[in-house]
Amino acid sequence: MFKRVPGTKDVLPDEAGQWQAIEAASRDTFSLYNYHEIRTPVIEEAALFNRTLGLTAEIVQKQMFLIHNQQDVYVLRPEGTASIARSYLENNLDKTSGFIKLYYIGPMFRLERPQKGRLRQFHHIGCEAIGSQEAILDIEVISLAARLLKNFAVSDYKIKINSLGCPKDKQTLSLNLKQGLQKEKQNLCADCQLRLENNILRILDCKNESCQKIVKTLALSNTHLCPDCLDHFKEVTDGLSSLNIAFDVEPQLVRGLDYYNRTVFEFTHSNLGSQDAIGAGGRYNNLIKELGGPDIGGIGFAFGMERLLLASKITGEKPLSRMVYLITLGKTAKNAGIKILNQLRLSGIPSDMDYLNRSLKAAMRAANDSGARYVLILGEDELKKNVISLRDMSNSTQREINIEELTEELKC
Ligand code: HAM
Repeated sequence: MFKRVPGTKDVLPDEAGQWQAIEAASRDTFSLYNYHEIRTPVIEEAALFNRTLGLTAEIVQKQMFLIHNQQDVYVLRPEGTASIARSYLENNLDKTSGFIKLYYIGPMFRLERPQKGRLRQFHHIGCEAIGSQEAILDIEVISLAARLLKNFAVSDYKIKINSLGCPKDKQTLSLNLKQGLQKEKQNLCADCQLRLENNILRILDCKNESCQKIVKTLALSNTHLCPDCLDHFKEVTDGLSSLNIAFDVEPQLVRGLDYYNRTVFEFTHSNLGSQDAIGAGGRYNNLIKELGGPDIGGIGFAFGMERLLLASKITGEKPLSRMVYLITLGKTAKNAGIKILNQLRLSGIPSDMDYLNRSLKAAMRAANDSGARYVLILGEDELKKNVISLRDMSNSTQREINIEELTEELKC
């Protein structure tokens, strides 16, 4: 028997309700903030991510699902931000609308070692607001993420926030770190010894205990920020406080992708073990320019659906179903039954029937298991009288009604 690929997941019907509830809450909340949906392909040119996430980013180095074509190298997209920036430029959205707020829901792919909360195919619920560098947008985007979490029934989460500053400030930060970490080189893990040369910021979020201990001794603060970036960050933190959004400033939070600058943030949840980030995001003021577009800023975030589900109390239970379940007895009744179902569905009444020619008793059990509110029973006798038996499962009452009156009756 075939098995699913490690690190992927089947969403079975009894889980789908929770997925739908989270997706519906996302769409409602994004609409409330005037975000519009964008859907981009799941395959992109690999070069798009090499260029925007950076060649030293872990995703690019180790986690790309590459597809080698004759001349091209494609990849199953590992994240959405670069794809949306590509689409924004390719479709001239910078020329038609300039500032735009977009949201997306869909699968992402990373060749990771699977574990709880870490999959190879996972799903992002994310958004990107492109075309403004204003701190007010950072405040709105982070408050939107907090509103989404409220609507997903996720509580007990933390918001961590930091500012990387402009590209020059990022360089200063890297230099400061290099000075502090060089003398500890031999005590860093093998990965971080390499990072010291090619991706020093990533050392700050290494999970290795000995690296974490060393990082703690660095007494990081925001001294790398220039006056403009410092002002921007203060505006953001003041704005969040004015909206009563609690957050911790974490100088250690750097995010490992090249495109980030200025504000970066992460949402963590205490119940999730080592993979505790339920979502993350930040500003990318140079991304659009890097891809050949105008010099405009952008900011966004993405939640990981599978991790949200581990943290969410959303049930996905539907309100009492108005489903109608038809049981027919005999061939003539079956043929008449399919017409009745057709009529009910035309009138927007959800309905289903027994397809297995079960006995009345077994079919009643199946109707009950399906959660149907009403059961219709149609046999040869009923057909002769042009009536059908209607059983209300909520109070176990049963009566015969005229077939022509059925739709009106069930509509009320
Ligand atoms: P990211 O931090 O790589 O950011 O991913 C965002 C979220 O996706 C994570 O916080 C986590 O919840 C979830 N996630 C990531 N990898 C996995 C995995 N292997 N299995 C399950 N869940 C996972 C980004 O991708 C950025 N594009 C976010 C962003 C949008 N920044 C600006 N705009």
